[in-house]
Amino acid sequence: MKRIVTDRLVLEPVGTENASTLWKIMQSGGLREFQDVPRHTRDEFARRVASRPKQFDSRAIGRFEWLIVVAETREAAGWVSLRVGDHARGTAEIGYSLLAPFRGSGFAAEAARGIVRHAFVETDLKQIDACCVPQNVASRALLAAVGFEETRVQKNGAIVRGRPVDIVIFEMTRESYDARNGAALRKGISG
Ligand SMILES: CC(C)(COP(=O)(O)OP(=O)(O)OC[C@H]1O[C@@H](n2cnc3c(N)ncnc32)[C@H](O)[C@@H]1OP(=O)(O)O)[C@@H](O)C(=O)NCCC(=O)NCCS
Repeated sequence: MKRIVTDRLVLEPVGTENASTLWKIMQSGGLREFQDVPRHTRDEFARRVASRPKQFDSRAIGRFEWLIVVAETREAAGWVSLRVGDHARGTAEIGYSLLAPFRGSGFAAEAARGIVRHAFVETDLKQIDACCVPQNVASRALLAAVGFEETRVQKNGAIVRGRPVDIVIFEMTRESYDARNGAALRKGISG
């Protein structure tokens, strides 16, 4: 996995050396209202991170995570992840969370854009999916701003705080990423 640098952030690959930083972030309040964050012990989490694939490419199956670090202050603000399931070759699912004090500054959208670009430029993944509960307006706005398309609602598609919940499914295909970024590039060139 590679470190990814964006305008204001450094996305640090999560490995055994910084797993405890992510674990501490995951214990914070305000992260579980709209999503299920696993409640592993620190040791169990470290074991799981150690068993993940080390290389991120479209053939690797598993969970890949990066710490969102604010470049200026070196503070760890949250995480962004990609999960490649064994039944969905060529497709990854993005996830992200920020600690409450870091929200509202565009950091999550910047991190998501960085990961999406990394995935489409560095691998031959064909599609990135995302999902969130309909009530998660911040997450929905983020996904729309980054260029994800809302496709459908899946009834009882996830479990949050022990209860089945509906989820909105978003997608970004390689074609739509290329079209969007090609258009941005052309706009830049033409002034
Ligand atoms: C979802 C989350 C990462 C968004 O973080 P954030 O800092 O608000 O995101 P950004 O600042 O990058 O904002 C992204 C967009 O959402 C909008 N937004 C943020 N909070 C909003 C809110 N409460 N209501 C409406 N829009 C909101 C921003 O205006 C921005 O849109 P824009 O680019 O059109 O201006 C953050 O709220 C969070 O960590 N929540 C808890 C964990 C979670 O729910 N994770 C996602 C699970 S699907």
